[in-house]
Amino acid sequence: MQETLEKTKEMVDYLASVNQILKNNNNDPSRLIPILQQIQEEKKYLSKDVISYVATSLGVPVAHVYGVATFYAHFSLNPKGKHIIRLCDGTACHVKKSHGILNALYEKLKLSDEKRTTDDLNFTIELVSCLGACGLAPVMVVDGEVHGQSTPALANEIVEKIIAEETAAKGAN
Ligand code: FES
Repeated sequence: MQETLEKTKEMVDYLASVNQILKNNNNDPSRLIPILQQIQEEKKYLSKDVISYVATSLGVPVAHVYGVATFYAHFSLNPKGKHIIRLCDGTACHVKKSHGILNALYEKLKLSDEKRTTDDLNFTIELVSCLGACGLAPVMVVDGEVHGQSTPALANEIVEKIIAEETAAKGAN
């Protein structure tokens, strides 16, 4: 019951923030891309429901909004974790064994090539091509923080630290 209430509250808060984003953009259909970007920043992905909601609010076909959301690689239609681990697999990083880091992360978080977000929505692993810091290869960016000369041990350490912080934060609530 408590969980259902929390989920409902979360949904109401989320819709309120989507409404605010639409309002800030004057419900202007020509601002569809910035609107979707701002919503994605808030929730890290665009659900089917939100795509329909935006389309209805802007008075444009759902297929149009869906088309824009799927055309740009920047948008994700799948839920993403609260913590994003972006691992570079460009040539320099690959040569410096980025796959070893990827395997360590997969093992630690019980993820795979087919499943890159944890069930608790705490972590998402993204593989990216060159981050433009090849001198620091292999490079990993965790929640926007760059970690050069990364190793499987460092990746494990960072993940463990985040898990400990999340557990402590939950305990405090
Ligand atoms: S190849 Fe990884 S930063 Fe360039």
